[in-house]
Amino acid sequence: MTKKRVLSGVQPTGNLHIGNYLGAIRNWVDLQPNYDNFFCVVDLHAITVPHNPSTLAQNTYTIAALYLACGIDLNHSTIFVQSHVGAHSELTWLLNCVTPLNWLERMIQFKEKAIKQGENVSVGLLDYPVLMASDILLYDADQVPVGEDQKQHLELTRDIAIRVNDKFGSEEKPILKVPEPLIRQEGARIMSLADGTKKMSKSDPSELSRINLLDTPDEIKKKIKKCKTDPIMGLTFTIDRPECNNLLGLYGIFTGKSKEEVSAECSDMGWGKFKPLLTDATIEALTPIQTKYKEIMAEKGYLDEVLKQGKDKAESVANATLQRVKDALGFLTI
Ligand code: AMP
Ligand code: TRP
Repeated sequence: MTKKRVLSGVQPTGNLHIGNYLGAIRNWVDLQPNYDNFFCVVDLHAITVPHNPSTLAQNTYTIAALYLACGIDLNHSTIFVQSHVGAHSELTWLLNCVTPLNWLERMIQFKEKAIKQGENVSVGLLDYPVLMASDILLYDADQVPVGEDQKQHLELTRDIAIRVNDKFGSEEKPILKVPEPLIRQEGARIMSLADGTKKMSKSDPSELSRINLLDTPDEIKKKIKKCKTDPIMGLTFTIDRPECNNLLGLYGIFTGKSKEEVSAECSDMGWGKFKPLLTDATIEALTPIQTKYKEIMAEKGYLDEVLKQGKDKAESVANATLQRVKDALGFLTI
């Protein structure tokens, strides 16, 4: 039996943080033996907001190396760079022409990011979810493991696929596979260290709001020391204690302890006792990733080879889907 297909990606904008790891990449690693996996570094998405040309390539390398360092295994998975496979841009154009504008104007992430851009909102930012739909649909992905914030984009991807099938396919012969989101509850939404009601984000101006996968032990220590808490003694999972929920949740994930075990351990503790425990657990979880990352980056030719092979493998799948869509839309082929 052929394995089902998984596709996901992360943007090469700045450092990966523990939200990206726990919400996305860690789940990819757990899933990969049971699926045929494609993981891309979505560099075309990274230019939908103003970007720095002198760091884009390096950031792309860093993310690809972090995929490997976090445990993505080339025996199960293909790693590639989105812009290396031209079919992503081409399918985006085709899908643009079947996607109603108001579907895009409704996207929460667009509205949030557009506010930050003021007068400079690009067409690309509005079109971002169609490019994401192309990423997924080109590979006939069955499952798309992402964090909670991507749920609406996945729904849009499904709607676009269904629309293409309705307009240009038949029930017996759908053109595009309709994918499912895969959102694991635990870790799906890691919150900012500076405000437990906001999600941890690469674009938060404050470095203290997030722990990056490549932070040194000293940085991790400092960030946890300074993170926002509340003045209540005894640490418990309580709805109206956002910081406490987030930090206890992180402790549970990094130590492998259940919610019940964490509650039992921490219910009589104050922050002064808890913070060093969380610091140690975080450092212990990130150290092996950092060690592997350094090894991979020290061997530059290796990563180039991984990405070249990934490109070839991704292209063979993506080009076949693109041709299928072009045929269905009635383009002339010679
Ligand atoms: P991005 O940083 O937007 O490229 O996101 C890459 C992946 O990380 C996506 O699957 C997101 O859903 C996930 N992600 C980003 N921020 C968080 C967060 N704070 N908590 C959990 N998952 C996240
Ligand atoms: N939009 C996703 C994010 O910000 C990144 C992404 C782009 C993606 N293309 C994708 C995720 C395809 C999953 C599948 O996190």
